Amino acid sequence: MGNICGHSIEKTSRPKSSSYLKYVENPIVHDFRILRPLGQGGFGKVFLVEQRSTKQTYALKCIEKLMLKQKHCQNKAVMERNILRDVESPFIVNLHYSFQTASKLCLVMDYMEGGTLFSLLQKQRKISEDQARYFAAQIVLGLEALHDHDIVHRDIKPENILLDEHGHVKLTDFNVSDKASSNSSSYSGTIEYIPPEVINHDIHNKQVDYWGLGVVLYEMLMGLPPFVALNKKLLVEKILTEEPRFGSSVSEDAKDLILRLLKKDPKERPSQISEIKSHKFFSGLDWDHLLEKSWEVPTNSKDLVRTAYISEISNDEDEVDDPEFDYDDFDYCRTQEVLKGL
Ligand SMILES: Nc1ncnc2c1ncn2[C@@H]1O[C@H](COP(=O)(O)OP(=O)(O)O)[C@@H](O)[C@H]1O
Ligand SMILES: [Mg+2]
Repeated sequence: MGNICGHSIEKTSRPKSSSYLKYVENPIVHDFRILRPLGQGGFGKVFLVEQRSTKQTYALKCIEKLMLKQKHCQNKAVMERNILRDVESPFIVNLHYSFQTASKLCLVMDYMEGGTLFSLLQKQRKISEDQARYFAAQIVLGLEALHDHDIVHRDIKPENILLDEHGHVKLTDFNVSDKASSNSSSYSGTIEYIPPEVINHDIHNKQVDYWGLGVVLYEMLMGLPPFVALNKKLLVEKILTEEPRFGSSVSEDAKDLILRLLKKDPKERPSQISEIKSHKFFSGLDWDHLLEKSWEVPTNSKDLVRTAYISEISNDEDEVDDPEFDYDDFDYCRTQEVLKGL
């Protein structure tokens, strides 16, 4: 029988609360009070939670094991956990803990108060070129951190771009991410953001993320993705054959960068992230000091999802513990890693 959320450890080895050792070693789902849902994706739900012992708020992503099994992608959740654990960057959402219940895999991450770029664009439709440059630059730095680890995100779209209260960006959702070296050619995602080589089932690589960046940059400036259609067939055709069209408000530099990122042939897109960073669109931007730059996200951009399925994950203890659904070695605690390193 596997270790379900460290139940046994929980009772014996948690430190008594002291002023600085206020952490939970092997958390279980009941260590977190659910405040409200934050979002929902293909495999599970994300909740705003409060850690009872520290009163710290986090985002808790719960992934259904059954769903993973049915879709034959158990390894995807482990891959997502590994990426979040291993890639440390100010532009990638921070993972604090991972643990499992009988039916769910749980990831405890930084809560991003500003919501998503998607919710921001829904309210604002489009944003100024300066704001778009600031967001795009941070997405570039997030991608750089991933690509340095040889990981391709493969699902760059506004729903997966989180914002904190100051407008700092963090990438999330590594469900479909993969090793660049895997030369993967399968994929599932939102069609508007899928590049031609994926539609054609060709081998694809880091350039997939440059396409995603191009689509997101276009959408920030124009208010819609570059290719939209009433049905899937037409949309696919446009992605494969049509050139993006721009409004008069988009600068020549922005156009030039977007057109390079949206080249149909991935070999014609930038080959390295450094080529994107040195593009004219970003001239004048101090990459090293990007973090210190402060730009307030409009307050109305805060995520206001308030519907309730609050008690949903708490009933898990009644479920039968099935070894088939036990993930070896899923539990992780960043605090322990930090303490080990001291
Ligand atoms: N750390 C977070 N802080 C705030 N909201 C989040 C956070 N993580 C996810 N969300 C919300 O939950 C949604 C789904 O999360 P995501 O990780 O993309 O799951 P899925 O793999 O199911 O798409 C996001 O689009 C966002 O709205
Ligand atoms: Mg998502």
